[in-house]
Amino acid sequence: MNVLVVGSGGREHAFVDAVSRSPQVGRILAAPGNPGIAEQAECFDVPVTDVAGMVALARAEGVDLVIVGPEGPLVAGLVDALRKAGVAALGPAAAAAPLEGSQAVMAELGRRPRSPTASYRTFSAASEAIAYCETLDRWPSVIKVDGLAAGKGVIIARTPQAAINAVRSAMLDGHFGDAGERIVIEDFVQGEELSMIALVDGESVAVLESSRDHKAAYDGDLGPNTGGMGAFSPSALLTPRTYEQIEERILIPTVHAMAKAGRTFSGFLYAGLMITDEGPVVLEYNVRGGDPEIEVLLPRLTSDPLELFAATANGTLAEVSDIEWSTDVACGVVLADGDYPGTVTPGKPIRGVAKAAAHAGVKVFHMGTRVRDGRLETAGGRVLCVTAVGATLKAARDRAYAAADEISFEGLRRREDIGWRELGPVADTLRASQGAVGLGEGAA
Ligand code: GLY
Repeated sequence: MNVLVVGSGGREHAFVDAVSRSPQVGRILAAPGNPGIAEQAECFDVPVTDVAGMVALARAEGVDLVIVGPEGPLVAGLVDALRKAGVAALGPAAAAAPLEGSQAVMAELGRRPRSPTASYRTFSAASEAIAYCETLDRWPSVIKVDGLAAGKGVIIARTPQAAINAVRSAMLDGHFGDAGERIVIEDFVQGEELSMIALVDGESVAVLESSRDHKAAYDGDLGPNTGGMGAFSPSALLTPRTYEQIEERILIPTVHAMAKAGRTFSGFLYAGLMITDEGPVVLEYNVRGGDPEIEVLLPRLTSDPLELFAATANGTLAEVSDIEWSTDVACGVVLADGDYPGTVTPGKPIRGVAKAAAHAGVKVFHMGTRVRDGRLETAGGRVLCVTAVGATLKAARDRAYAAADEISFEGLRRREDIGWRELGPVADTLRASQGAVGLGEGAA
């Protein structure tokens, strides 16, 4: 099977790495890809939102399956165009993509499970949003931009002034572009964050193992939100009961509600959850694999990834019986530009990637890199994700940091505490005992 991966980040590198393990794989293509991907795939210089160009590439190269990574091309209708051209594609059609693209559309779909106390309001006028912030009496509060913001459009405001600043930045200063024209202000939900990603083929839902992202820029979960500074999988938070609640009360009903609303969903459905005392609560949905969550999930997948992806794209997920996972824990540490999540200047030479990748159990995923004059350089805010596997979270984390220590570039910044909320023997025992529960059941 010839596979084309669309995208140029760490998530797409992890897709390429995963399908390269499949006995069914023929050629692996990527567009546009990145220098890490280029070591495992043939890269083609087609921009992700060039829908016609991508369809032409897929047809010209005899591609059997296209895996679409980022949300931009999904919203632009790439999957629709590929299917129309007779090419199987993994990802939602444009009608389903606004589940991520618009917080307000998600709310309108009626699939927005909330804690009993959480409430939210949507605003199109900055003056009204600011006036609302002034009336709030419970802090923190959450300001979300109503559009695609690469996972960065959520601001947790701890004071009225911080909320007003966030509203101004999104709605008046255009900090998030068009995505900030409408915003949602909602109650802060107290709990522990968990990412659950499912493969959905329109009807069947196959929930993947759990992972946890570290969205804040700085240690201790402080500072501005980023696309994610590191992740690990699985999480000890996922008890069998929580798993069942997420599957039965959140993911399956959401997929059914989408179909009923004429927005049949297929592809990766990623629920950003808060595990509260009253159970799991959805904070946001994304219509793509999480980044860096995919970089810690796929290295643990022992089932044939291509069989799973093709079944999702072809609507035959119910025929895939078991999804199997390594009992190892994976931990990924993101190496970012010092100015991230602000504006970064590309072109800083990167050293030590090969040395890091030579460490046992380690894979270095390229998130934002390029080659100029034969030299590997930075090309984005998040530059590399160093993922390691180990028998425990501590073992995986220690390996990831030891490998990451080999890598340097000017202004490199990373969090030093990836996994901190679950490090320790209690979490590891819980994680080991849950490995066999509810997680190998395939499609629901
Ligand atoms: N890691 C967060 C995201 O992919 O949105």
